[in-house]
Amino acid sequence: MKSKVEFNKNHVVSIRDFSVDEIGYVLDKAELMEPIAQGRESTDILRGKILANLFFEPSTRTMLSFEAAMKRLGGNTIGFASPDVSSSKKGETLADTITVTSSYADIVVLRHPQEGAARLASKFSSKPVLNAGDGAGQHPTQTLLDLYTIRKEKGEISGNKIGIAGDLKYGRTVHSLTTALSMYGTEMTFIAPPPLQMPKEILRRLTDGGIEYEQQEDIGKAVEDLDVLYVTRIQRERFPNEEEYLKIADSYNVNLETLENAMDDLIIMHPLPRVDEISPEVDDTPFARYFEQAANGIPIRMALLSLLMGVEL
Ligand code: NCD
Repeated sequence: MKSKVEFNKNHVVSIRDFSVDEIGYVLDKAELMEPIAQGRESTDILRGKILANLFFEPSTRTMLSFEAAMKRLGGNTIGFASPDVSSSKKGETLADTITVTSSYADIVVLRHPQEGAARLASKFSSKPVLNAGDGAGQHPTQTLLDLYTIRKEKGEISGNKIGIAGDLKYGRTVHSLTTALSMYGTEMTFIAPPPLQMPKEILRRLTDGGIEYEQQEDIGKAVEDLDVLYVTRIQRERFPNEEEYLKIADSYNVNLETLENAMDDLIIMHPLPRVDEISPEVDDTPFARYFEQAANGIPIRMALLSLLMGVEL
């Protein structure tokens, strides 16, 4: 699966900075990383290199999979998992934190509550910056692993009908994913209670680009003609106050009943963490792919690290 495309990015800030060919190139590289990601083979192509994980917001998968990816490639990691233990607590600006940490490491991974934080960091960093989520903005590495999962499970990305469900207002994973799928011309249905529907700017961008989409409130109805159902949790931490959150809490759930009319080969994805929007009973159905999806974060992040460091397998 050789591609003619070259990867010459200095940073990974937004999925909008990628073309379809460049995405394909990363997914192909991730495929090559699989035996190492699974521990069946080993390599030390990033020996002596250091990754700085700077997490100003909670994370399990993204932070640990970057760490595992770096170590699988023979590299090392430093970092912090909470702003409470960094000097931002003392009032240090993000710009200063990045200027300094990028002199300690060869690559910087940043998760931050403010939209635009990764773009700003890329201006101050002397090393490549990977956006691991900036507020409700973008989460490009998650999107690449989502696309990798769809391609792996379905054989292609464009020919599927994909339902994107849950908190479409505040969810950065679905903002990034929608942008990417629009590049593939994939059919999309946005499934959410009206207050959590996709932001108008994103819908406008789709319309301007000639991309048609559907909107729906009921997951059970929407699921009937879907190839992929992508579910997300309500982003409680982004609501202006608890009262607003409580108005919409528990407003949707995927369970066996919701899936009664699903096609046999439907796959269900979720970036995780799950709270209560997918009942555990769904885990044992042939639809569930969210744990495989999470595992796909390792080869994708290995591919990105090696490409950004200019060291290939
Ligand atoms: C997501 C995130 O942080 O945006 N988590 C992840 O990286 N897999 C999804 C979420 O927190 O709901």
